[in-house]
Amino acid sequence: MREHPRPGWVRWPNTIEDAEGPGPIAYGADYNPEQWPRETWKDDVRLMRQAGVNIVSLGIFSWARLQPTEDSWDLGWLDEVMDLLHDNGIAVDLATATASPPPWLTTKHPEILPVTHTGATVWPGSRQHWRPTSPVFRRYAMGLVETMARRYADHPALAAWHVSNELGCHNVYDYSDDAAAAFRQWLRARYGTLDVLNHAWGTAFWSQHYSDWVQILPPRLAAANPNPTQQLDFKRFSSDALKDYLSAEREILHRVTPDVPVTTNFMVMDGAKGLDYADWTTEVDFVSNDHYVVTGDRALDELSYSANLTSGMADGRRWFLMEHSTSAVNWRPTNPAKLDRAMVRDSLTHVAHGADAVCFFQWRQSAAGAEKYHSAMVPHAGEDSEMFRSVRALGRHLQDLAPVSGSRRKPARAAILFDQESWWAAEQDSHPNASLDYRAEGLDWYTAFLDLGVQVDVLPTSRSFDEYDVVVAPVLHLVPSVMRDRLVRFVERGGHLVTTYFSGIVDENDHVWLGGHPGALRDLLGIRIEEFGPLLDGEQVALDDGRAGTLWTDRIAVTSEDTEVLASYRSGPQAGRPAITRRVLERGSATYVSTQLGPAGIAPVLATVLQAAEVESALPAALRGRVELAIRIDGASEFWFLINRTDDPVDLGELGGISDALLSTPAAAPGTTSLPGRGVAVLARG
Ligand code: GAL
Repeated sequence: MREHPRPGWVRWPNTIEDAEGPGPIAYGADYNPEQWPRETWKDDVRLMRQAGVNIVSLGIFSWARLQPTEDSWDLGWLDEVMDLLHDNGIAVDLATATASPPPWLTTKHPEILPVTHTGATVWPGSRQHWRPTSPVFRRYAMGLVETMARRYADHPALAAWHVSNELGCHNVYDYSDDAAAAFRQWLRARYGTLDVLNHAWGTAFWSQHYSDWVQILPPRLAAANPNPTQQLDFKRFSSDALKDYLSAEREILHRVTPDVPVTTNFMVMDGAKGLDYADWTTEVDFVSNDHYVVTGDRALDELSYSANLTSGMADGRRWFLMEHSTSAVNWRPTNPAKLDRAMVRDSLTHVAHGADAVCFFQWRQSAAGAEKYHSAMVPHAGEDSEMFRSVRALGRHLQDLAPVSGSRRKPARAAILFDQESWWAAEQDSHPNASLDYRAEGLDWYTAFLDLGVQVDVLPTSRSFDEYDVVVAPVLHLVPSVMRDRLVRFVERGGHLVTTYFSGIVDENDHVWLGGHPGALRDLLGIRIEEFGPLLDGEQVALDDGRAGTLWTDRIAVTSEDTEVLASYRSGPQAGRPAITRRVLERGSATYVSTQLGPAGIAPVLATVLQAAEVESALPAALRGRVELAIRIDGASEFWFLINRTDDPVDLGELGGISDALLSTPAAAPGTTSLPGRGVAVLARG
């Protein structure tokens, strides 16, 4: 049997700076031994060793088993599992087990249960039924954290702490009285006085003026559209409330086990909108992410975008893929299995973007419970299965990739900005077009980059983008003056900015910048918009260069003599007016795209901007669009991940024989340069 080195890298001191250094790529899963009899545990570790598993996340949903009643504890079984794993060389990312409160707790304290915006109670019977702001829940949860930390502080299997689980997955928005009280406190801290709050919320509108803090509520079910700034602040508050909860657990863990790093699994993926993770990264010792593939033909692009963004949140340093699926999930109306080789390709795409861990939900497929049809590393069919053979093969690939561990992503020259507050604000109600999809527009630009074969970093706006040559800011709706100044400086020093419809419209209070849209960016772009021209679902307008636009148009007037019109509308409400403009400064430029073009329509605009910035593809022409290239770097060494985005073979041609590669999957015959559909090759260069 091959050796399975332990991923010592996760047991870092508590600064991300100290995270560098070699070590194997971590490989494993959520492990839920409480669902199985003891006999199965032995079989589990035997198979884990076969697969090359070197870390598991343990105890995530174990609270009811660990503390069966308020006054009794049963930790013996967990001691046994910890010992068993350690004896087999498997490290543990140990959960604090607070994710799902046990029935005795909710029976005794129903006041910890969340309340929906209609006032309905969220009852127990599933999971995560607790109010993020409940002082009662917090008291019990912190008691459990303290017990776990003390019990396992010196256990040799303990490699990292896993706080709760996917904080906010089901309970991000709680409208209870606890939430109302905490919201008021949060607002006092943000605004100081009611006058400032009344101004920020625009309460002169619809007779909403507050004369006492106690009158303020979460945006519960109302007769018509609730106040937009109240809604936006409630989103900010709800993310902060869970961040505060995370810090409370982390403080206990750091106090009791100062040398054990703490993480919690983020959900950087399509649809996980409630949490401002870029703002949470200071609360964890290393970033972890969960990702589940979307359906449809953009699934791989979305995976790559999410992994890339996670890397942006981790400031380009390595991060931990805490969960993804070997094959089907159970929570969509239809849950197709993954195609052959897709599990390995998906895993390695995360590694390409900086993951130094590949973990799944879950180790052994459950026989009972809501997730019994969710795939796992050991399927219902058992070890004699295609699934488990693929799991073993992936374990071998990750061992071959050990030299990559500890490397960072090589910064690209272009970035796509991701702005959580714009995502929240742009998709609120009472807007020109309810079909606007913030993340979809960003993904369209990402796909256009992939199609052109040009590398791009996805970057939260809180990170510096000064070093990039091209910055694309799709639907950058909420632009405070500080952000406007950053963008102006970027362009003035020679950067090339691209932005789209509904950008630069409001400030941090969701107040419109007056004087014509896009108020914050009007001068920079050299245009002025008097009215939006949203399109109905299914409606298309033609541009004069043959492209089509959907979703949006603007009534644009060019206001600067430096602004050129790259394309105009040929049909629709703005026929004859500009559709795409570009203001060219001495060195930099600022481009505005007023409609949804889709990846194919975006590509020519992007090509123009990239050409002006002299940013080129590192791929041979024949591979552009068919292969994704992501580069990790470690000193003088570069690791080129080449991911076949198609289902057909791709000839890597001049990039060389892939049998000499650090890894090629599926295995390549000597001398071959053909990468099969959904295959991945990793070339070590330099
Ligand atoms: C995640 C969760 C896991 C499991 C998984 C199924 O959201 O953290 O516990 O439910 O989804 O896809």
